[in-house]
Amino acid sequence: MTSSLFSLAQPFLTALDPETAHRLAIQALKAGIYPRPDAASPDNLAQTVFGLKFANPVGIAAGFDKNAEVPDAILRLGMGFAEVGTLTPAAQPGNPRPRVFRLKSKRGVINRLGFNNDGHGPAFQRLQQRGQNGIVGVNIGANKDTVDKTLDYVAGIKTFAQVASYFTVNISSPNTPGLRGLQQRDELDHLLAAVLSQRDACAKKHARVPVLVKIAPDLTEAELNDIVEICLQREIDGAIISNTTIARGSVQGVENADESGGLSGAPLFEKSTAVLARFHVLSAGKIPLIGVGGIDSAQTAYAKITAGATLVQLYTGLIYEGVGLVGSIISGLSDLLARDGYENITDAVGTKAEEWLTKFNQES
Ligand SMILES: Cc1cc2nc3c(=O)[nH]c(=O)nc-3n(C[C@H](O)[C@H](O)[C@H](O)COP(=O)(O)O)c2cc1C
Repeated sequence: MTSSLFSLAQPFLTALDPETAHRLAIQALKAGIYPRPDAASPDNLAQTVFGLKFANPVGIAAGFDKNAEVPDAILRLGMGFAEVGTLTPAAQPGNPRPRVFRLKSKRGVINRLGFNNDGHGPAFQRLQQRGQNGIVGVNIGANKDTVDKTLDYVAGIKTFAQVASYFTVNISSPNTPGLRGLQQRDELDHLLAAVLSQRDACAKKHARVPVLVKIAPDLTEAELNDIVEICLQREIDGAIISNTTIARGSVQGVENADESGGLSGAPLFEKSTAVLARFHVLSAGKIPLIGVGGIDSAQTAYAKITAGATLVQLYTGLIYEGVGLVGSIISGLSDLLARDGYENITDAVGTKAEEWLTKFNQES
């Protein structure tokens, strides 16, 4: 009943301006108006990754719940984990509106929000009040005007160490000047050294919190090689691949394609999956990966897993398909694993990474 009401609301939401629709979705989640799963997650989807027990591998990507307003509602929708943020130390308004655009015919979105968020304080209070049930990651970033951006990430670790299940160090959003430069070899090494040393210092008082890095899909092969090498050297707990793309090759000529910002959704699927597969191969599967970018079905989620993802996240797919997508991905994934003879999702991770790379090399 609630579920069908929700699918009725979907065309209404997609007819509204994207930011208004997003605000309404958050309000609905706050008010408890959303479908709950009929059953617990299937057993073959359960796994332990970086020390955390995931009932299923499907999470919400950063940017949906920037201010940690509804992580518990997201978990109650049936998602295996939620990620809040990106959070910056000080509140900031982001870029002028309009700053989110739908590319309907391609099932894509371009956003140039620019880390609009309430800052660390209010989010910390909300997370502290909710307690520690369920896996809630905290995605941290830097304020637009901060000169030494490393300090903002270190502040994020300090503030959220007692409430975060894991941290995502977001160095890949295209809408904060200088942020993606942190992916360069020396800058990344310096940043991770500082972040991990703060994490280790906090671990003396609270639990040790896994630290993941979130990277862009627009990297040269040499840049990706450097990132993998540093992540291995620094023993990073995981990587999220990927953020939105600044490329427009997959949407040329489409309405809104010329807007500046990061492109997400179906047009990002192949590019982000190729980077995921390459990271998995280069790191010999030693670093758990979260695959994100263009997931809109059980098949696309499964493709990420066979390309090298241990977990997946989605955002834009929910805008077009509605929250019913969560349940259909979970049950569909379980069926696909059984069809292919895998006892558990872990057995399927990266089984087609080389195939994905070959396919991408042929097409690029
Ligand atoms: C409106 C919007 C806002 C986003 N904000 C953030 C953010 O604050 N931090 C971040 O790491 N990623 C952010 N993202 C990127 C998503 O987390 C995700 O990496 C990307 O959209 C690809 O996944 P998708 O194709 O399933 O949307 C945002 C995406 C969208 C569409």
